[in-house]
Amino acid sequence: MYGMDNVTFLATVSLFCQIVVFVLLVGGYALKRQQKFLLHAIFMLVAFMFHLGSVFAVMLPSFVFGVLPFMASVPFNSLILLSIVHATMGILAPIIACWLILGWRFRKAMTYCMRKKKLMGLTFVVWLLALFSGFLLYISFYWAFLFG
Ligand code: HEM
Repeated sequence: MYGMDNVTFLATVSLFCQIVVFVLLVGGYALKRQQKFLLHAIFMLVAFMFHLGSVFAVMLPSFVFGVLPFMASVPFNSLILLSIVHATMGILAPIIACWLILGWRFRKAMTYCMRKKKLMGLTFVVWLLALFSGFLLYISFYWAFLFG
């Protein structure tokens, strides 16, 4: 059996985290559609914590030990562009999410949150872009390992 190297293992854990965050985001959106706003906010909070945890525990090490050496060894290409998009969206999404969650502060009243629904829509899109570009990156980096 082929063993995974450390970088591939880290990236696979990171992919798993991204799938969990994706499920939480879609679930949180569905809850909003059912007018279950408190649960919606709790799902987004958990997604935020998971996202942040995986950035520090997995993505940063994977970026430093996997992507940076790779970037240094090849000329600028579409994969590097995708990494930049992924990293930018992946940092932006939790920053705005943090702002939304701090504004909410676990209050039952939804008045404050209601006013921010446009920003939430934007956060949602940015977050999905971060996850989707991360998925594409994983596939591009590890295609040969997985299917080769
Ligand atoms: C932190 C990340 C969050 C994301 C990504 C997010 C995402 C969304 C999205 C996509 C919508 C639909 C927007 C639209 O209809 O234009 C929405 C609506 C809503 N969200 Fe969030 N949300 C977040 C946090 C929160 C928090 C902390 C609260 C506070 C309780 C909250 C309460 C609401 C409410 C009340 C609505 C419905 C607004 C309405 O339909 O009038 N959300 N959210």
